[in-house]
Amino acid sequence: MRTLLFTLLIISCSVTIQAQVITSPNGNLSLKFELAANGIPTYQLSFKQKPVIKPSTLGIETVDVASFSGGFTIGKSEQKTVNDAWNPIMGEQKTIRNNYNQLLVTLIQKAEKDRFIQIRFRLFNDGLGFRYEFPKQENLKYFIIKEENTQFNLAGDHKTFWIPGDYDTNEYAYTTSKLSEIPGLMKKATIDVHAQYPIKTLAIQTPSMMKSADGLYINIHEAALINYPAMSLNLDAVNFKLSSHLTPDGLGNKGYMQTDTHTPWRTIVVSDKATEILASKLILNLNEPTAYKDVSWIKPVKYIGVWWEYFVAGKSSWAYSSENNVKMGDDFSKLKPNGRHGATNENVKKHIDFASANGFDAVLVEGWNVGWEDWFGNWKENVFDYVTPYPDFNVKELNSYAKLKGVKIMMHHETSGSATNYERRLDTAFKFMVENGYNAVKTGYVGKIIPRGEHHDSQWMVNHYIHVAEKAAEHKIMVNSHEAVRPTGLNRTYPNWIAQESARGTEFEAMGGLAPEHATILPFTRLMGGPMDYTPGIFQTDLSYYNPGGNQRVNTTLVKQLAYYVTMYSPLQMAADLPENYLRFPDAFQFIKDVAVDWDDTYILEAEPGDYITIARKAKNKNEWFVGGITDENTREANLNFNFLPTGKKYIATIYADGKDASWNKMPQSYTVKKLTVNSKTRLKQRLAAGGGVAISIRLL
Ligand code: NOJ
Ligand code: CA
Repeated sequence: MRTLLFTLLIISCSVTIQAQVITSPNGNLSLKFELAANGIPTYQLSFKQKPVIKPSTLGIETVDVASFSGGFTIGKSEQKTVNDAWNPIMGEQKTIRNNYNQLLVTLIQKAEKDRFIQIRFRLFNDGLGFRYEFPKQENLKYFIIKEENTQFNLAGDHKTFWIPGDYDTNEYAYTTSKLSEIPGLMKKATIDVHAQYPIKTLAIQTPSMMKSADGLYINIHEAALINYPAMSLNLDAVNFKLSSHLTPDGLGNKGYMQTDTHTPWRTIVVSDKATEILASKLILNLNEPTAYKDVSWIKPVKYIGVWWEYFVAGKSSWAYSSENNVKMGDDFSKLKPNGRHGATNENVKKHIDFASANGFDAVLVEGWNVGWEDWFGNWKENVFDYVTPYPDFNVKELNSYAKLKGVKIMMHHETSGSATNYERRLDTAFKFMVENGYNAVKTGYVGKIIPRGEHHDSQWMVNHYIHVAEKAAEHKIMVNSHEAVRPTGLNRTYPNWIAQESARGTEFEAMGGLAPEHATILPFTRLMGGPMDYTPGIFQTDLSYYNPGGNQRVNTTLVKQLAYYVTMYSPLQMAADLPENYLRFPDAFQFIKDVAVDWDDTYILEAEPGDYITIARKAKNKNEWFVGGITDENTREANLNFNFLPTGKKYIATIYADGKDASWNKMPQSYTVKKLTVNSKTRLKQRLAAGGGVAISIRLL
């Protein structure tokens, strides 16, 4: 009896010792870590006493050594508080507060010769970040990951804004449903996207946005994805449990690790206000500051391009000829021109003139280089060499012309998924750029990846994108990647990786259309990870204009396209429509010319995922403010409170509003432009048309 009592005492005592609790600096969030039976690590998270994550297990399964899944005892456990601030090179605000309470637990596997790992938790006011760390030690050097088993055991059947889990693409349309409804909707949601690889088990992608029945907003994603595959989330739709699902390589392995190392951060942003989800800087805070010494060459970019004309039926083509079996090394000047090539000297000059006359920094030119004849869908290794222009594109002449006009040409490197070919040619390609005066490149990864067996989101490719960003930095080149792995805040560490696409952007308005609610979801999902090159600014939204009889359209009003410059954050923004369309609506175009792309401060005025977003921002180092408000397919009244303006001064606001008869599918080009004197006490009710928006610019009077 005495022995039994004694044993019980030890157990209860060890249980208490093993549970660790920390709270967020404001006390709203509480994290509990403890070891469950068999030494399995678990954590749980609550917000204002409501469960966000119920007890959930942590662990990593390995291929070659014993797994990091159980048999742990707690070694050291340390806590600290950090409260400092930093200034991003470009961003939504000048200064970002970094305030968290940290718990670092060391977990020992006695049965594995005292092998140990650490789990680091950082609890901010806006959520939790945690990661697994593998310090250097005698009995752990190399290991291969079979799967990460991080659970997110949710407290209910939340409303979720989701896209299907896929190793190769993020370009799906969003579905909104309860978690329990996802199994029944998955097939329909898995629409055709080029080079897709939908996960075979039930899984959704991150950033995954959820709302509980009692009004908690929960966003799950990751931060600082380096040397590790991207994470999707397996779904147990009966018990509302999500769990990590890493992207495999060709052998089915997930990650190749060597100590000293760690995983990316798993992030859970939580609030009872949707506006605070959009205001969260948790993911950026969890990324490392940049190691770049000189960042003076990294600048915001507002650009136009020889681009949209390729999408609007029949206008022009990337390819110079209509041959479809060409090879690197062929004499492209011998090809018969198809007469529709877009990147001609003449067309590019026209764009340079327009950019220069209207204050744009750059002109993106796609289709300038040989190889576009059969770039698509052939899983071909050597499609492009990145240095040979088509015969009607004169690199030197055009770059001198651009220089004379005070603008840059933006380079385009479509890889068609052949990362091997791109890596081999990268140095030469970047040198070629520098020699010819380019300072920014748009990269693209349309197609199945080479090395064959790799995926857009696997560890090898994650390392590839970072390699490109670092190499580009050596040449003082900014990178805007399309079809790369979704961002995780790495623009802090690699600030020249200025923006990414990695979602369904404007191009899809020409290929089936985007739902009017799409852009009210993206800031809560894709943009949680970083800036998006959404390519807004389409004024000619009815695309039958180019293709009489067709029914393709951009599913917004013209004014909503203006609002995107504020609601869709990016320090790189395109005015994507054709120059001639801007000339048809000069008063609306004025907003695009005026709008800032880099900010001192941001005020999320109203937001509800899937419904509406209204944001105000103050331009960097200027007394100018811009407001953007968007709605889904429903009309709405935005409540604009101008209390973000400094008090005691008068301002002139120019309000770009949907016309009374406007809607996304009828009269989308109906709008009004009005001036109004405002101050910090002004309140304004503004009607937004169905699929519409509002855009406002404000200056000191
Ligand atoms: C897909 C990109 O998203 C698009 O912007 C580009 O024009 C094409 N690929 C061709 O590279
Ligand atoms: Ca794309």
